[in-house]
Amino acid sequence: MLFLLLILLGAGGVLASGIGLYVICHHLLTADIPAGISHPLKLRILHCGFLLLITWGKVLETLKICSLPRFARFMQDLMPLKQDPDVVVTDLRFGSNPVKLYQQKTSSLTPRTGIIFYHGGGMVMGSLKTYNNLCCQLCKASDSVVLSAGYRKLPEHRFPAAEVDCFASTVHFLKSLKDYGVDPARVVLCGESLGGSLAALICQKLVERQDLPKIRAQILICAVMQGLNFQLPSYEQNKNVPMLTLSFASYCFSHYTDINPAWEPVVLKGGHLPTESWEKYRKWLDQENIPQRFKQRGYRPVSHMPLNETAYLEAGLFLEKQPFPLIAEDEVVTRVPEACLVTCEYDILRDDLLLYKKRLEDLGVPVTWHHMEDGFHGVLSILNFSCLHFPCTTRIINLIVHFIKGL
Ligand SMILES: *[C@@H]1O[C@H](CO)[C@@H](O)[C@H](O)[C@H]1NC(C)=O
Ligand SMILES: *[C@@H]1O[C@H](CO)[C@@H](O)[C@H](O)[C@H]1NC(C)=O
Repeated sequence: MLFLLLILLGAGGVLASGIGLYVICHHLLTADIPAGISHPLKLRILHCGFLLLITWGKVLETLKICSLPRFARFMQDLMPLKQDPDVVVTDLRFGSNPVKLYQQKTSSLTPRTGIIFYHGGGMVMGSLKTYNNLCCQLCKASDSVVLSAGYRKLPEHRFPAAEVDCFASTVHFLKSLKDYGVDPARVVLCGESLGGSLAALICQKLVERQDLPKIRAQILICAVMQGLNFQLPSYEQNKNVPMLTLSFASYCFSHYTDINPAWEPVVLKGGHLPTESWEKYRKWLDQENIPQRFKQRGYRPVSHMPLNETAYLEAGLFLEKQPFPLIAEDEVVTRVPEACLVTCEYDILRDDLLLYKKRLEDLGVPVTWHHMEDGFHGVLSILNFSCLHFPCTTRIINLIVHFIKGL
């Protein structure tokens, strides 16, 4: 019996060191740490931690013990929660959707600003808990009531679970602002990464709703705004930059949309859409609309590969029907609330928001834009991570707090 246990322990040890070694090699061979990142070593450590999580997730998934997304979130949620003595955090359910409410301990004579926050993580990582510190900080620094909206995720739940859940929680909150001491004239939707996409989409959906308070502003940080053109400069320039590499983004995207990963090479090169579609989206999705200063760092324009009919039927046709915020009609986009956009130079999604910025500006929607020259995807979620702190995180928080206070 003891002997068997020793063998098992030994095998576990070999597997663990093998995975550790693989992760370090994988990082050193594939990760691109740009010179403009302020703390390259910290980013390397974070990326190795991330790869460790993903690799273990893949091993456990292959062994049919636990799925990768479940394992990744379970491990992330083991991080201890930081309590803030000035903020009351309440776990609630709006229908079946979990939400966290953040309120200041001190009462206010006048109603406060309300922030509805949608977290990121590509439907694989991230939870209400992982974004707890950020929401606490937002609540305190901007003197607001923050509602953090949870949603169903992979592996069981796919498109459009996140949209459905977040929209329902948003409507519920908008109908009960009085109970939470929120000023109906000052409700802001805010999201990071996939959460930014949710915030933008929900703003677009709410323009039709005369029965609900009007959203005052939207804050979109490193947001996913489209899923059609993967040949924009930022996708090429930052494809191997942690924390969101093109390969992990493709993993999240194909699983969330339930498109067979076999189509990935065709979709990434634009062979999933016919020329007529590319012509139609050109004015919104083309690299021509990206300012010249973002086309440095080795970028060369490439044309879309010729149409692959099967890829069109299996992926393109489906994707074209999706409500990506960047391809919404002008009559919708022109009515969305004022926006604060935050882009990071070393983020594959940078150009998604640059394109949305152009659309909003062309249609006369007021835009405040902040570009982080030293930022990378996910930098906002690395808050209060003890020594792995990046100055960029604090800068983004200060900028959005300033924007909220100025409303
Ligand atoms: C379409 O793409 C698939 C997957 O890459 C490939 O096997 C197939 O040959 C392509 N079809 C055409 C007509 O190019
Ligand atoms: C988290 O970090 C922010 C910004 O650096 C800081 O202001 C805050 O006090 C920290 N919160 C905790 C609970 O450590």
